[in-house]
Amino acid sequence: MSSPTTVEVRNTCEADFDGVIGLCRRVYPTAAPWTRTQLASHQAVFPEGQFVAVQGDRIVGMAASLIVLWDDYDAHMTWRGFTDHGLFTNHDPARGRTLYGAEVMVDPEFQGEGIGSQLYEARRGLVIRLGLRRIRAGARLRGYHQVADRMSPEAYVDAVERGELIDPTLSFQLNRGFRVMAVVSGYLKGDPESMGFAAVIEWINPAAAPEIHVPEPPR
Ligand SMILES: CC(C)(COP(=O)(O)OP(=O)(O)OC[C@H]1O[C@@H](n2cnc3c(N)ncnc32)[C@H](O)[C@@H]1OP(=O)(O)O)[C@@H](O)C(=O)NCCC(=O)NCCS
Repeated sequence: MSSPTTVEVRNTCEADFDGVIGLCRRVYPTAAPWTRTQLASHQAVFPEGQFVAVQGDRIVGMAASLIVLWDDYDAHMTWRGFTDHGLFTNHDPARGRTLYGAEVMVDPEFQGEGIGSQLYEARRGLVIRLGLRRIRAGARLRGYHQVADRMSPEAYVDAVERGELIDPTLSFQLNRGFRVMAVVSGYLKGDPESMGFAAVIEWINPAAAPEIHVPEPPR
């Protein structure tokens, strides 16, 4: 872990792309990083939804998001489905009221120093500014592989929610006001830690007007 640092969170720009790709390689050494095509597409469709955490000239964290109309999706859809293969070309600000958190990551050398919390704070600020209803995301169950021989992913999530087990990702999100809506399989390809399992999680904007469902009149 590095010494305490001053980190600025701001919107991503094209000059950050190499730094973001380097960050991906440090966080997920065996997975393909974001491509320049995907990062440029995020800038084209929703620049306000993309954040980096910067210390000096080093990118130490990032968060990427898009707006979706939740009813267009099935909660069991894969990450690729929710993000149009990572391009965010399904971004739908005209109809959507849900900010979909497609990525959040912090440099392993800087984890546990509050940078992830700063990125989440920036996301919540965006949701409040845009008057969106909620944030939803798939939280990969990063610690599940350690217990997969003895418990189901649902039992694992229950134990994490009760605080009996700590998951390095889901516990962080629950501590930031998210709740679990569902447990899904096949969410991320090639993630040996979660084995593809994820919790669909939600944070509600307290300032947003609730959605009103008017019951059908009796016939
Ligand atoms: C999840 C993640 C974004 C959190 O970022 P972070 O900067 O470490 O988070 P913070 O320092 O703001 O908060 C840390 C919290 O997580 C815990 N934590 C998580 N990873 C930690 C680490 N490596 N070292 C110390 N604490 C850690 C802290 O105890 C703290 O607990 P709290 O919730 O009781 O406050 C970061 O760990 C990460 O990039 N993980 C790998 C990528 C990933 O899994 N992303 C999520 C995809 S769904």
